Amino acid sequence: MEKRPPAPTLLITDDNSVNRKALNFILREAYPNIIETSDGESCLHRLKNHNIDLLLLDLNMPNKSGFDVLEELNENPIPCRDSHRPAIIVVSADNQPSTISRALKLGASDYITTPFNRDELLARVKTHLALRMREQDLEDRVTERTHELEAANQRLKQTQNQLIQAEKMVSLGQLAAGVAHEINNPIGYINSNLGSLESYLEDYRKLASAYKHTEIITTSKEAQDIQNNIDFEHTNHEVEQIIHDSLTGVRRVRQIVADLKVFSHPEQQEWQQLNINECIHSVLNIVHSEVKYKADVQLNLAEPIIEIECITTRIYQVITNLLVNAAQAIETFGKINISTEHADKQLIIKIEDTGSGMSPDVLNKIFDPFYTTKPVGEGTGLGLSVSYGIIESHGGKILVESTEGEGTCFTLRLPVKQTIGLTTAPKS
Ligand SMILES: Nc1ncnc2c1ncn2[C@@H]1O[C@H](COP(=O)(O)OP(=O)(O)OP(=O)(O)O)[C@@H](O)[C@H]1O
Ligand SMILES: [Mg+2]
Repeated sequence: MEKRPPAPTLLITDDNSVNRKALNFILREAYPNIIETSDGESCLHRLKNHNIDLLLLDLNMPNKSGFDVLEELNENPIPCRDSHRPAIIVVSADNQPSTISRALKLGASDYITTPFNRDELLARVKTHLALRMREQDLEDRVTERTHELEAANQRLKQTQNQLIQAEKMVSLGQLAAGVAHEINNPIGYINSNLGSLESYLEDYRKLASAYKHTEIITTSKEAQDIQNNIDFEHTNHEVEQIIHDSLTGVRRVRQIVADLKVFSHPEQQEWQQLNINECIHSVLNIVHSEVKYKADVQLNLAEPIIEIECITTRIYQVITNLLVNAAQAIETFGKINISTEHADKQLIIKIEDTGSGMSPDVLNKIFDPFYTTKPVGEGTGLGLSVSYGIIESHGGKILVESTEGEGTCFTLRLPVKQTIGLTTAPKS
């Protein structure tokens, strides 16, 4: 049912009480809300403090005349709620064309000369109220439409950003897939050769130590010199260390390549049920050493426990990345809040820290692979780009809010039940 507009409020301003009563008498049957004032000052006061729809204004009044009222309204428009100026009908005995045109120029909507005809007065009041109502309705609609357009524009911007991000991810993903493929092979044989070298070296070590403990009298001066110049203990230890370090390095590269593959190559696998509380607790155990000296961790986990359909190892990976990042962003000691919530068939996980926060410039790049602000060797810059890929392939969203110098909040939104095809699910 359509809402009926409220009854209009009329204001009669005239210093002559007989005139006021006459106007009131004619109008009150049709318009019960009538206020009367006898001077310009109180007329302005009423206009500012009440929602007046129509003003019937006398021109000749002591102190503040009708013209003064009109001029003041032009200089200081009424700061009322709907910012509407009421319709103003001047009622005056002065029928000089110059007076009439001056009043109209100053913003009067109409001019009625006395003595007036009752029906004409009613008709004019009715017309101006209808016009005012239409004007108000139009303005309301413009305001509403402007809000709708602003909201649509905001949504469009967000979608555009997401599209740009997704597009970037696809092309970077292809690039990363190529790089990962190229690196995988040489790393494979370096790893296996280093493994073989380690075991062959053991044979050499045995042989060398057997020679060392056997008194071998060699006639070759050259061989004796070599034997005397080599510190076998030291060399053996060094070679062992070098091979060990190289193998550690190669394993790290393999891990990076594996991460790159997740980011670029979502592979098929079955969805599994994950108890998110258990996941958060075990991730906290894993990253305990990273976090315990940096922050008090506060948990605010939803009850009953939320289970989601996902690739569990991948969700572990994302939460690990976010927690490590949060701890690393805290310089001395701070707080990390982890909360979960169930809303609209989605699991919402928030990881909030009181760390360094990020500038808008950094914020724009954090999902780019290899983007890091951490010292060389400390961060690869893959954590968030991999996490982005994982959450997207789960049909979820990863959002971030950050204030430089105050902290950061990452929000994950994940569907509780999967509806997207398994071909897009990442393999663990
Ligand atoms: N919670 C946070 N607070 C402040 N800055 C952050 C936060 N999380 C991420 N960042 C910024 O985003 C960058 C990218 O993060 P990302 O996890 O992708 O890589 P990384 O942590 O530098 O390295 P990696 O995770 O590969 O070891 C970080 O170097 C850091 O500048
Ligand atoms: Mg990281």
